[in-house]
Amino acid sequence: MHNVDASMKVGKSIISNNIKELTIRRPDDWHVHLREGLLLEAVLPFTARQFARAIVMPNLTEPVTNTVEAEGYQSLILKALAKENVTRKFIPLMTAYLTDMTKASDLARGYSEGIFSAAKLYPANSTTNSAHGVSDIAKLETVLNKMEDIGMPLLIHGEVTDAAVDVFDREAVFIREILKPLIHEYPKLKVVLEHITTSDAVDFVSSMKGKVAATITAHHLIINRNSLFQGGFQPHNYCLPVAKRERHRTALRKAVTSGDPWFFLGTDSAPHTIKDKETNCGCAGIFSAPSALELYATVFEEEGVIEKFENFASIYGPAYYGLETNAGTVTLTREECMVPERVTVADGTEIKPFLAGKVLGWRLKDKP
Ligand code: NCD
Ligand code: ZN
Repeated sequence: MHNVDASMKVGKSIISNNIKELTIRRPDDWHVHLREGLLLEAVLPFTARQFARAIVMPNLTEPVTNTVEAEGYQSLILKALAKENVTRKFIPLMTAYLTDMTKASDLARGYSEGIFSAAKLYPANSTTNSAHGVSDIAKLETVLNKMEDIGMPLLIHGEVTDAAVDVFDREAVFIREILKPLIHEYPKLKVVLEHITTSDAVDFVSSMKGKVAATITAHHLIINRNSLFQGGFQPHNYCLPVAKRERHRTALRKAVTSGDPWFFLGTDSAPHTIKDKETNCGCAGIFSAPSALELYATVFEEEGVIEKFENFASIYGPAYYGLETNAGTVTLTREECMVPERVTVADGTEIKPFLAGKVLGWRLKDKP
């Protein structure tokens, strides 16, 4: 079994009431990496089984930068669903990877035709496959003006890339030096600060009273930075933005249980094979998709507010994106459920999920 840090409350859950079953509107994942090829086929069924829709990140090896490429990627995802015999309807919501060369007209076309749901800003070299990212936000002026006009959401990986800035400070510095001026310059721009990890981000988003939203991952609610070094380096707890101090994890838990509608679910499930994680210069990314809803439900229960889980998972996201809430539901039962030890890809490589082998107290009903 996975060795769990004392700071991780998963597993010794505080049973707040006698709920044996929890049925909520079917949720969406507002930030996920589905990859391509065999890896896509291996990971997609986990997301499609739980979520009705997902905002799919465009950071493929060759990033998805325009409408034509997004249509191509979307059809690969739909083909993979069919190949994996996923019969439940799942809608991949596509995003454009912004570069210094992005054309405002192409974004606007993709958005108006319903191919793009949002555009993603990766500061160049901030994370996996972000070498093509934006080198200077000033170069995006025409693009951002257009997005502001048409109401297209801008999703931000909020970390500065300056090597001189401590890796644990990069989110807070980004907010102060880049995000605040950006929002000042484009006051009507719809912004989602992705996978927030700090109290600085929680405070900033809260202060914006709905002008800016944020996604929060399950893993950042469960681990702090100690978990990276516990009993030796733990590459499967390494992601970007990297987990921070305990006080930041506590702030994130407060945010998701606050009932504020600008905080919603985004797993940032980011699979890499074990070979790519357990190596010199291992990849950043935590693969949480296999147990995503069970992990979040555990956190809400530990906080004694399981009744607030549905809003966070299923209501606030669509509201911010201006979409309908899903019609169907999912049910979680209070039953032991082990996070799989490994997920095997068709080429024989393996992926290790977040908290692999750990037994959680909730199980998604109809789980195979
Ligand atoms: C993501 C990935 O692997 O694509 N990694 C991660 O640590 N979250 C990229 C990202 O979202 O930063
Ligand atoms: Zn991500």
